Amino acid sequence: MSNKPRKVIFDTDPGVDDAMALYFALAHPGIDVVGLTTTFGNVTVEQAAINGLYLTEIAGFHIPVTQGVKTPWLKAPGEPPAFIHGADGLGNLPSRVPTQSKLDPRPSAQFIVDMARAHPGEITLVAVGPLGNLATALKLEPQLPQLLQEVIIMGGTVLEPGNVSPVAEANIWNDPHSADFVFTAGWKLTMVGLDVTHQLVLPSAIFKKLAEHHRHIATDTLLHAVNFYSDFYSGLYSHVAREHGCFGHDVLAFVALTNPELFQTQDGRIRVALDGAGNGQTMMRRRAIPYPQAGWGDDVPDTTVCLQVQADAARTLIESTLMLPWLKK
Ligand code: BDR
Ligand code: CA
Repeated sequence: MSNKPRKVIFDTDPGVDDAMALYFALAHPGIDVVGLTTTFGNVTVEQAAINGLYLTEIAGFHIPVTQGVKTPWLKAPGEPPAFIHGADGLGNLPSRVPTQSKLDPRPSAQFIVDMARAHPGEITLVAVGPLGNLATALKLEPQLPQLLQEVIIMGGTVLEPGNVSPVAEANIWNDPHSADFVFTAGWKLTMVGLDVTHQLVLPSAIFKKLAEHHRHIATDTLLHAVNFYSDFYSGLYSHVAREHGCFGHDVLAFVALTNPELFQTQDGRIRVALDGAGNGQTMMRRRAIPYPQAGWGDDVPDTTVCLQVQADAARTLIESTLMLPWLKK
């Protein structure tokens, strides 16, 4: 990475691993978070916006936060997974301190378009929720792929089983039509999916150590949320339970930005299954075969898909970045 911090819009549905990712981004000297655009997903969009404002303000940051799409583009809306992230998205916090920040009044998609036009070629979009804001922004501004520097998404899976069906990952499955629109738009696009996020377990002990080190409401909040989230993952996987750990999914999207050398990738065309039992599956063309099936032609751009991660190095990077003196009050 060059010395100049990368301007990033963080599109998010906070969400415990979203909170982890946000704090990693705020702590990392190579990242300048210029806005948070929220979406439905782990919680309703209203709660996502509340959490975005809360998490930034308690850490001492004042960054524009917007509210975005409430529902999927075409699919029927579902219920947020309170059993994974808590009904409030942050592990059911026992209380919150009063805060003052207000939302930027623009819808998330408009904010993305405005920022991309104001800083052509300079903004990276890191999207870690369902992709409705990005799809809406693309409808508002068809030149968006040229205006953004790059897009990195946490979502999808190619070889690893899904987490909402045998083949689908939650962010893509939550809004498959928006995801397919994003995968076929033609940006410089990197997919950080379950193929890599399931390779990295983050023990809750890391977040305890972090809270003891900083002694700050932001890291106490994160620890509470991570403990709830780790209970969920520890109930599901024995190797995760051994460390009372969790998958840090969203934080790996930022690791892919700051340290791409930690990943093995393959480029290929991605399409999303839009209905049936495979709904939300991210299908990848891994060989240059001229298929008779429509939808796989040369008009479909390549996505860079992360398939392997150096898990120990990524875990060390996440921990050491969060230990930096980044909190502002
Ligand atoms: C993704 O779904 C959400 O629950 C997480 O925040 C992450 O973005 C993992 O499938
Ligand atoms: Ca998320």
